[in-house]
Amino acid sequence: MPGYKRFHDTSVSERILDTMFLLTIGLGYLFALGHMYFSHEGRDGQPGLSVEDIKIAYYGKHQQTRLGAALNASMGGNLESPEQKEIIFKWIENGTDVDEFNANVAPIMNENCVTCHSSKSGMGLPSLTNYEEVMKVTHNDTGASIQSLVRVSHIHLFGIAFILFFVGRIFILCEMPIMVKRIAVAIPFIAILLDILSWYLTKIIPGFAYIVVLSGGLMGLSLAGQILMSIHQMWFYKPKQVPIEM
Ligand code: HEC
Repeated sequence: MPGYKRFHDTSVSERILDTMFLLTIGLGYLFALGHMYFSHEGRDGQPGLSVEDIKIAYYGKHQQTRLGAALNASMGGNLESPEQKEIIFKWIENGTDVDEFNANVAPIMNENCVTCHSSKSGMGLPSLTNYEEVMKVTHNDTGASIQSLVRVSHIHLFGIAFILFFVGRIFILCEMPIMVKRIAVAIPFIAILLDILSWYLTKIIPGFAYIVVLSGGLMGLSLAGQILMSIHQMWFYKPKQVPIEM
């Protein structure tokens, strides 16, 4: 471990190395934000990234199925009455039971939908002539799978731990009140742990999307703060001539 405790005592080549590292990490973080924007933007049908998009990414749309969406849009006009729509939506909400389908839903579909929605129509539309076919447009969107969350969690935790550790090691050479420093080095770690934990909570309770956004924002801000303060103190700060604690 190096013997110095503040930037003032580091060599210029050390500072150049630290600065290049911090700038590269900062740029990487901006690209990570761009990646996040492009992978979640517009999930709710509105352009741009919102908390609603994050909810849908982790929690899913649940009652929103291709069938439900189509009936709420133009396909609803093919039904004879709003009651028929109610019957179909109730069947989806109750869990798409096969007996309930045959008793209540199939007659409606046979009457109003299959003229176009069958292989015979030759229109190339999803066929709706039996349970299996209708189920293809009735799968609930339940958001991110646990498997994919576990995969992304382990990649994030391993990668980000290294980034935060090395940025933090440089940052502790800054001079500031010691309690501020002790808290500041811990914040980005706490934020990323909270962020990843809230992915799972959002899968169960969609309101936790706000915690995902807030803790993700806190991690970004604290990382940016450590990078900017380190670069500033490295090159521009005049130290007081007093011994300091680590
Ligand atoms: C007159 C022909 C016609 C009838 C009748 C009809 N549809 Fe459609 N349906 C279409 C066409 C054309 C499309 C594709 C274009 C669109 O989405 O508007 C479509 C699209 C759909 C989709 C979207 C498929 C996807 O890719 O997500 C669903 C679901 C659907 N219809 C369900 C129904 C249901 C349920 C009924 C009966 C209440 C019905 N349709 C009646 C012509 C029809």
